[in-house]
Amino acid sequence: MESQQYDFGMIGLGTMGRNLVYNMSDHGFSVAGFDKNEEQVKTLNKEAAGKNIYGTKDLQDFIQALKQPRVIILLVPAGPIVDSVINEIKPLLSKDDLLIDSGNSHFTDTDRRLAQLKKDTIHFMGMGISGGESGARYGPSIMPGGSKEAYDRVAEMLKAVSAKVNNEPCVTFIGNGSAGHYVKMVHNGIEYAIMQLIAEAYHLLKEVAGLDNDELHQLFLKWNKGILQSFLIEITADVFAQRDDLTNNSLVDMILDAAEQKGTGQWTSQDAMNLHAPIPSIDIAVSCRDLSALKKERLQAEQLLQRPVKSTLSQEQKIQLVDDLEQAIYFSMITTYAQGMALLTKASAEYKYELNLQNIAAIWRGGCIIRAAMLEDIRAVYTKTPALSNLLLSNDIAQKLIGSQNNLRSVIQTAIVNGIPVPVMSTSIAYYDSFRSGWLPSNLLQAQRDYFGAHTYHRIDKEGIFHTQWNQTKS
Ligand code: 6PG
Repeated sequence: MESQQYDFGMIGLGTMGRNLVYNMSDHGFSVAGFDKNEEQVKTLNKEAAGKNIYGTKDLQDFIQALKQPRVIILLVPAGPIVDSVINEIKPLLSKDDLLIDSGNSHFTDTDRRLAQLKKDTIHFMGMGISGGESGARYGPSIMPGGSKEAYDRVAEMLKAVSAKVNNEPCVTFIGNGSAGHYVKMVHNGIEYAIMQLIAEAYHLLKEVAGLDNDELHQLFLKWNKGILQSFLIEITADVFAQRDDLTNNSLVDMILDAAEQKGTGQWTSQDAMNLHAPIPSIDIAVSCRDLSALKKERLQAEQLLQRPVKSTLSQEQKIQLVDDLEQAIYFSMITTYAQGMALLTKASAEYKYELNLQNIAAIWRGGCIIRAAMLEDIRAVYTKTPALSNLLLSNDIAQKLIGSQNNLRSVIQTAIVNGIPVPVMSTSIAYYDSFRSGWLPSNLLQAQRDYFGAHTYHRIDKEGIFHTQWNQTKS
């Protein structure tokens, strides 16, 4: 049994959990870690030798090694494992102990766990953490939700371990209930769309502009110094430079083109549909992963369904395509953030999260997967107009989109003529064109609904609900 008392507990000593423990220890906090897997505990104790860290696979020992009231962070896979861990440790906890679930849990699970633990006088927080393994080690973006009182108990530690942008910590109290996990879910939805968007640019650059991986590496390095500066552009540059140990080919060329997913993008789309919040760029990005996974059928279809003849671009046209693409990605990224933020606005009202979009944009500027220079501009918009319902209604953002829309339109034309799918780019311009249209053809949908189902319609010139006996001459 350990006699020392530690500031924090960590359950789950996989790479993410261990890295977060080391990060906490670097900032002067003592941590006890627990994992059922003996190997993980041994790795922790070996790597942490000489630090104020203690690992054990004995749950009683772990619980007793923590200062009271205890603060225990869970970094275990989302889903039923979280419930089984909670059920196992609950009998060992005391009043006012605080459990923090840091996995990618579904927000409805977080609400359920919050309600259950409240009855047991145990505090609970759902906390999104973004940044992967290196984020956990050197500074992630952290999205804690639940009660402000519980957050205040851990705020100092979270601020210390989080990423910093201009000395500002990338953590803030996100909001009530499951707000932290909800915002992390939407972060991931945005992540899906931006990743797909970059893949679409790669497709065009490879197949139409004919860039090889070295040229792609150079281009993404250059892009990362301009308006597209972001983590995802940065790592994409690295990907193109990576050789395969087995064949010495470019590794990216040896990877099967069938995307996988753990579900957070899908959850974002599902909840957006429930709330009637349009996020089509994210929806299509989820569908693209599903479509890519149909590898066998795609190979069959390749033999059957003809593609258009590829155009041969002149050197000037290639340069133009590359320049247009930079603006096209910029436009599509902004519209994707706009959709994600608009969903957050709607969810905040619906679920009473009391989200502060200015703070959310601020903590997404560093540490997380969707960090990007343009989030500074997005944050500035919400600082100026906190209640803005959609980023596209900001004059500053509108000017940027107006400036790059034609580049995106020409990229899409080139893609379509050449049979290259650019679903997120096409959807982003469609979102923009729909959102900026004072009139949309939905009057016709209403007429059709009323025709076949007497669903009624509203008129533009009179209040009230109307129904018409359409085309009575037809039997
Ligand atoms: C992050 C990531 C992280 C994880 C995704 C991957 O913010 O650090 O989003 O949460 O890498 O869950 O999701 P998929 O496996 O669904 O691509």
